Amino acid sequence: MAVVFYKHMMMKLTYRLEDEARTLELGAAMAGLLKPGDVIALHGGLGVGKTTFTRGLVRALVPDVEEVPSPTYTLVQAYDAPGFPVWHFDLYRLESPDEMEEIGWDETPEGVAIVEWPEKAGKHLPAWRLDIVFDFEGEHRLVSLEPHGEDWQRRCDEFQF
Ligand SMILES: Nc1ncnc2c1ncn2[C@@H]1O[C@H](COP(=O)(O)OP(=O)(O)OP(=O)(O)O)[C@@H](O)[C@H]1O
Ligand SMILES: [Mg+2]
Repeated sequence: MAVVFYKHMMMKLTYRLEDEARTLELGAAMAGLLKPGDVIALHGGLGVGKTTFTRGLVRALVPDVEEVPSPTYTLVQAYDAPGFPVWHFDLYRLESPDEMEEIGWDETPEGVAIVEWPEKAGKHLPAWRLDIVFDFEGEHRLVSLEPHGEDWQRRCDEFQF
């Protein structure tokens, strides 16, 4: 794990994930950090592991979940975690940020929103959020947690993986 300090003391945590199982484990490890109002933006290209990460996270949050499909065509998939709802968005096929309301974005402050292709949300993406940036590294993946806002910063400071 590498720790990088930026000028505002915002810290970035980078992990090298050997295989799919490790990506699932990172998702599961993050489940315990979450609370209503959270937005996690998953950045990175096609097939880099965003849905895999979300699958690990949702399985940890919702123990009796049957399937965690990629919402490629539906754009959003909702889950009932104990305590709060969770929405998994895949905005790849969103044509305009104006469609965010139609797919239920306005409800998400009541729960947790996990967003693939977050740049498609435009102004709807809040400034205070956790960015997770996925990169390919040969057969493996490099994944960085980039907290925005004091609350996410504190939680990332305490995060163990
Ligand atoms: N750490 C890893 N090392 C190697 N392969 C991985 C790792 N994590 C996930 N994968 C593999 O990457 C592939 C694509 O994963 P996934 O569908 O999660 O990508 P995605 O980022 O959601 O893609 P899309 O943008 O198309 O939705 C899967 O085959 C998965 O097994
Ligand atoms: Mg995906």
